Amino acid sequence: NSQEIVGCVAFETYASDGLLRSLAVDATVRGAGLGRRLARRIEHEAANVGIQNFYVLTTTAAAYFKKLGYAATERGIVPGLVRASAQFAAICPESAACLSKHCERLAGD
Ligand SMILES: CC(C)(COP(=O)(O)OP(=O)(O)OC[C@H]1O[C@@H](n2cnc3c(N)ncnc32)[C@H](O)[C@@H]1OP(=O)(O)O)[C@@H](O)C(=O)NCCC(=O)NCCS
Repeated sequence: NSQEIVGCVAFETYASDGLLRSLAVDATVRGAGLGRRLARRIEHEAANVGIQNFYVLTTTAAAYFKKLGYAATERGIVPGLVRASAQFAAICPESAACLSKHCERLAGD
């Protein structure tokens, strides 16, 4: 009856914008849809606290986020508060893709 943590995801809030952080699934259980479920869940949680647009920076998974409905986004149009975040400031612009997605509030939530 063991319980193990096999994935994680988080977001930071910048006014009505969110920055998705740290989506990861343990290598032993990848490909089973957990990453997609974690992303969907955090998007809904963010939408339900008023986040309207979700941003993500990634050096490894731009194609993955595109499959989840994210679109490549010029850093220049990213809101200033998000651009001022530690992650944006710390990650080299040339090495990371920036993507974004509009968050829909779930009907009935
Ligand atoms: C990216 C990650 C979270 C996906 O988790 P997962 O649970 O395996 O994802 P899902 O099961 O929802 O989706 C699997 C699908 O995505 C594809 N995929 C997985 N990682 C990918 C990547 N980096 N780029 C493009 N496609 C990827 C798989 O090939 C698979 O495709 P298929 O459905 O056509 O077979 C996981 O690979 C991971 O933890 N990677 C290391 C950390 C990382 O790069 N995180 C993202 C930066 S924030």
